[in-house]
Order: sequence, then structure tokens, then C-alpha cells
Amino acid sequence: MAAIRYGDRLYELRESESVLDALLRAGVPARHSCKAGSCGSCMMRAVDGAVPAKAQTGLKDSWKARGYFLACVCHPDSDLEVAAAEDDAEVPATITSLDRLADDVLRVRLRCGAPFEFRAGQYVTLVRDCQLARSYSIASLPEEGEIELHVRRIPNGRMSGWLSTEAGAGTPVSLLGPSGECFYVPGREDQPMILVGTGTGLAPLYGIVRDALRNGHRGPIQLFHGAVRRDGLYLHDHLTRLAAAHANLEYTASVLEAPDAGDAVSGPIDQLILRRFPNLDGWRGFLCGDPALVGSLRKKLFLAGIASRDIYADAFLPSAT
Ligand SMILES: Cc1cc2nc3c(=O)[nH]c(=O)nc-3n(C[C@H](O)[C@H](O)[C@H](O)COP(=O)(O)OP(=O)(O)OC[C@H]3O[C@@H](n4cnc5c(N)ncnc54)[C@H](O)[C@@H]3O)c2cc1C
Ligand code: FES
Repeated sequence: MAAIRYGDRLYELRESESVLDALLRAGVPARHSCKAGSCGSCMMRAVDGAVPAKAQTGLKDSWKARGYFLACVCHPDSDLEVAAAEDDAEVPATITSLDRLADDVLRVRLRCGAPFEFRAGQYVTLVRDCQLARSYSIASLPEEGEIELHVRRIPNGRMSGWLSTEAGAGTPVSLLGPSGECFYVPGREDQPMILVGTGTGLAPLYGIVRDALRNGHRGPIQLFHGAVRRDGLYLHDHLTRLAAAHANLEYTASVLEAPDAGDAVSGPIDQLILRRFPNLDGWRGFLCGDPALVGSLRKKLFLAGIASRDIYADAFLPSAT
């Protein structure tokens, strides 16, 4: 079995154990969230030894060259000496405002203290300190000057709770990333697009829709936002106005709990979409939010005709213990 040197200690890896799990088992407070190679919060640096290619999937080339890797999906074949990611892997940022979009949804705006290139719809890993980092999708456009995130408050959530009760304008944080392929690529301006998000899964879609419109997308854009209850449709009025101002944009709100649906459609959002669009041949699809719904809709959109290369999805994986 391979061993990990971290600081002045050696940690033996058990069968099929990741570097992250070995460190956590030994009581090292290694930062992590998804444990699935998605959020980037567990990034470490290899000082000596060979890092398996899989542990560097999705990282920037410059980071790969410096030995950065994701500890949660790193299963080395031979001994590895590792160190914490250096501060220069993170971009310093300051929270400029925090306001409530709904009872349990916060809008967080951040200004970066160094150049930070991103596309609307990608996600960043928000780093509170060396112990806590979580991923959030970007709702803003680069030219807006600030990064906007929509954060759902999770009961007992460490990051969302801290943002709701302790953080405020002026609080310093840092950012890792951006990551993800879920963004608008200009070039096929007449292609119809369907975007489906539940809860704060709307955040990246809000950015992508505005990016597509700004880029002169001419094809139909169908935006679906699903919530459990009517008050979860936290940008309803704004999106209704945006759709009224753009002939090719249609916004559909859907709620699961029928009694308070109001002007939204009630019922499961996947059934609603497939009833209205049984044939999606030639479309481009974007899916964000609840991992189970993203997974099942990805299959359904594919079966309805969208090529898998035209389906972009970000599942909001919760933190794993
Ligand atoms: C690629 C990516 C993009 C994301 N984008 C967003 C975004 O734009 N907006 C957003 O609000 N979130 C987003 N998330 C989720 C986010 O990263 C955090 O997982 C979430 O904010 C909870 O963090 P926390 O520290 O507040 O709660 P934690 O302290 O991590 O969780 C507390 C407890 O609640 C459980 N839990 C966590 N999340 C959920 C959930 N959704 N449902 C039920 N139980 C849960 C945990 O397993 C844990 O037991 C994204 C995740 C990923 C991987
Ligand atoms: S990428 Fe490793 S914990 Fe998320």
C-alpha cells in the first residue's frame, strides 16, 4: 500500500482509500465538501511522487503543472509527499452585500481583489478559512464587475448558516476556480435551448440566459424554474419582466405543492417539460440544482432527442462526511 507524507508524519493508505480519507481517518482537519471530485475544496499540492491523472481532472493546466490535485479522488499507486494548497491558488475577495431573495435564499455579492476570469454559469469554491469551503454557481456576467451567488440556507449548514448570520458587507473570503462547463458557448445562435433549475439551481441559469441574450442568441430559450412552494420562485417577477422584454425567451415557473401555485404551474417539473416538449431533437439543454432531478432529467432530455454533447449539467452535490 502507498503512504502519504504530510508535514512531518506518514499516513498509510488502506485498500481503495483516497488521500483525503486517509488524512481524515487520522484526524487531520483536511478541507473538503463533495468528496466526488467536483467542488475543488480538497485541493492539495504534490511535493514529491506521481499523482494519478484522474486526481487532476478539470484543473487548470497551470495548476496541474505545479502538482495540484484533488485529494478526494486521489488513489496513488506509490508513495506521495503532499502539502496544503498555497495561498496563491486562491483569489482574495470581499463580500460587498448580502440580501434575502426569499426566506431561505441569500444573494451574496463579492468583489475580487485580483483578476478572476469566469463565464456566467460556472461555479466558484467560496473559501471561508482553511477548514471550510463550498461551491456556488455564478449568476452574474463578467462585465457586471461583481460575482453574484444565490445561496440556499441549509438547516445546520456551516457555510450557508455563517453567511446568513455572521458574514456581512466587508467580510473577507477567498475564491477557488472557476470550474465547470455549464455556460453559454456562442456560435449556434438559432439553436433552441431549454434550461431547467430547481431551487438555487436557478442561479447559473439566470447568468446563462442573460449571457445568451447579450450574445444575440436568436433561437427560442425556454427557462423553467421549479420550487417546492410558490415562495421559492425567488426571481419570479424579475424573470417575468425579462421574458416580456425578449420575444425569444419564455419563462415557466412550476411548484410541487399545488395549493399555493398562484400563476405558476403545479406538479413535477420533469413531467411538465416532457409534456410540453416531447421532441427536443437539435436542442441544447442546461440542468442545475438537485442532484437526483439533474440525473434523471439528463436521461430524459437525451431520450427526447438532445445529443449528450449538448447537455450541460451541474448537480449541487451536498457535502459528504
Ligand atoms: C458544483 C456545485 C455548485 C453548487 N452551487 C450552489 C448554488 O449555486 N447555490 C446553493 O445554494 N448551493 C450550491 N451548491 C451546494 C453548496 O456547495 C453547499 O453544499 C450547500 O450550500 C450546503 O453547504 P453548508 O456548508 O451550508 O451545509 P453543510 O454544513 O455542508 O451541510 C449540513 C448538513 O445538511 C446536509 N445538506 C447539505 N446540503 C443539503 C441539501 N441541499 N439538501 C439536504 N441536505 C443537505 C449535509 O449533508 C449536512 O448533513 C453547489 C454544490 C456544487 C457541488
Ligand atoms: S472535489 Fe474533493 S471534496 Fe469536492
